[in-house]
Amino acid sequence: MTPPLVEKPPCPVNSFNEWDPLEEVIVGVVDGATVPPSHIALKATLPDDQHDFFRKNAGKPFPPEQIAAAKKDLEELVRLLEAEGVKVRRPEPIDQLKPFGAPGWTSTGLYAAMPRDVLLVIGNEIIESPMAWRSRYMETSPYRPLLKEYFRGGAKWSAGPKPELRDGLYVYDWMEGKPGEPTRYVITEFEPTFDAADFIRCGRDIFAQKSNVTNDFGIEWLRRHLGDTYRIHVCEFDDPHPMHIDATLVPLAPGKLLINPDRVPKVPELFKGWDVFKAPRPIMPAEHTLYMTSKWINMNVIMLDEQRVVVEKSDEPMISCFKKWGFKPLLCNFRNFNSFGGSFHCATADVRRRGTLQSYF
Ligand code: NVA
Repeated sequence: MTPPLVEKPPCPVNSFNEWDPLEEVIVGVVDGATVPPSHIALKATLPDDQHDFFRKNAGKPFPPEQIAAAKKDLEELVRLLEAEGVKVRRPEPIDQLKPFGAPGWTSTGLYAAMPRDVLLVIGNEIIESPMAWRSRYMETSPYRPLLKEYFRGGAKWSAGPKPELRDGLYVYDWMEGKPGEPTRYVITEFEPTFDAADFIRCGRDIFAQKSNVTNDFGIEWLRRHLGDTYRIHVCEFDDPHPMHIDATLVPLAPGKLLINPDRVPKVPELFKGWDVFKAPRPIMPAEHTLYMTSKWINMNVIMLDEQRVVVEKSDEPMISCFKKWGFKPLLCNFRNFNSFGGSFHCATADVRRRGTLQSYF
């Protein structure tokens, strides 16, 4: 007797690009955010005015009133996403002050605020990033309950080779290069490392940057892991402190690309024929604390579909540009969260978008 045909349930993980209609998303939590111990890897990316703060507060919690304010922003984002019909999931905060390590080093943690840095979703697969910062070595832990659930639901779950993060990975005498010189990276090719946020997805084509956390070895690992179905294009930008591509090159919809006008002097050839929108200059007040990034996180937006885009509520230039370019901005207060190193794209990882694998080039 032929067994009855059982329809396979749809995979809970399905996201090939940055713009298909968003159905389920992970939004980070900022609870317990802790200043990481001093380490050379941080020096290459922290804003100049933050080195002192990080030295003095290494291994201590971030100011509780700032955490509380950022948490309020996240709650507003969650409400907005749910009102737009998106299912929101959250990681389980862990004690970031509990030391961990591997042979040769120990560290405390950072936070579980930026799922985009940690988890790379490509189609039906979630890949845990082999992160280069020692303080982020255990950063997938808060997401483990979700990863197990998605795996049980049929998703593919993998992880980059567990890095050792030995001294050989770091350039301990790292100094910033002079203007016009090739970028100097603080990590070597000792072993593969990458942060998921150094990749941005356009179906079969994935754009990547080499950075202070993502080396060629890591990019090559991902390329072979994904196989011939995907093409990874490594782009070079004018950024003396590269870490995460999503405040530099942000595909918004098929044929629509947002670029950082300071960092992208030449749009990658493949985008020929696309509308290229230059992000307006950030208007973040100088006195607003940004612990880990530049003000260009004004362009770190998340698309809910090809039209709806979540934009910071006080960012008038960005709001009017998006309207002019034909998008529908949805406004959310996020300045207090921004202080912790990212905006809407960083604070989320899209788990499921309604769509299929396509080629847009
Ligand atoms: N490292 C980038 C932020 C990426 C979200 C910047 O500081 O502009």
